[in-house]
Amino acid sequence: MLAPIHRWVWRDSERRVQKLLRFGQTETDGGHDILRAAEMTSDPLLRRLYLKHAIDEYRHGELFRRRGTALLHTLPSKPEPAFQADWLAPGGHGLDDLHVEDESDNDLLAFLHLSEKAAASRFTVYRDVLRNDGPTCAVFEEILHDEVFHMSYTLTQLARVSPQHHRRHLWRARLGRLWKGYLRIATVLAGAMGTFFLIVQYFILLPPFVLLAKRAARREQPGWTPISADRNGSLDRQY
Ligand SMILES: [Fe+2]
Ligand SMILES: [Fe+2]
Repeated sequence: MLAPIHRWVWRDSERRVQKLLRFGQTETDGGHDILRAAEMTSDPLLRRLYLKHAIDEYRHGELFRRRGTALLHTLPSKPEPAFQADWLAPGGHGLDDLHVEDESDNDLLAFLHLSEKAAASRFTVYRDVLRNDGPTCAVFEEILHDEVFHMSYTLTQLARVSPQHHRRHLWRARLGRLWKGYLRIATVLAGAMGTFFLIVQYFILLPPFVLLAKRAARREQPGWTPISADRNGSLDRQY
């Protein structure tokens, strides 16, 4: 349903370059977090899977960066910072919301499963709207393949390490994502409302004060004005 919007977001070649380069950074950052998870877990199988996952994310970062750089060289001039429409077409896995050290394996797996699922569905849309840019489409296709694997191994492992309560962990992770999504929207809304009210204040509340100040200025006598004798003592202190 949102394909036309995504098509519009990705059509601008400067924005495409900047998005790809930023996706590259996000994937690499995600790789760091999952590598940290591999260090923290006491489960040998999870450690192996996390390591493979981290390597995949580093590779995704490299693929995005390489494609972004190749496109950058085709641009006629250096791209200006463009509107990124990140809330319409975000990248990455939302791992920046996560403190790996504070999470148990159950919670981390639930969080990763949902994040990878979201990333897989977003990358499917991006791949589809970028059909006319073969190499970029191929990058998304390749990465998508790994994201589907990440999505499924995290669910399988969650069911293994927490056979009784894995659904509860998934629901908790879902609610956490919902809450963070709400906070993001609320922050954007608060910023927009702040800007709106400041503009209203500037154009509606300030003008009467400007007029009053101008009228008071007109009443002021020009030049020096004598002051009363009791305020006219010698200056023997700083204030
Ligand atoms: Fe990835
Ligand atoms: Fe992934």
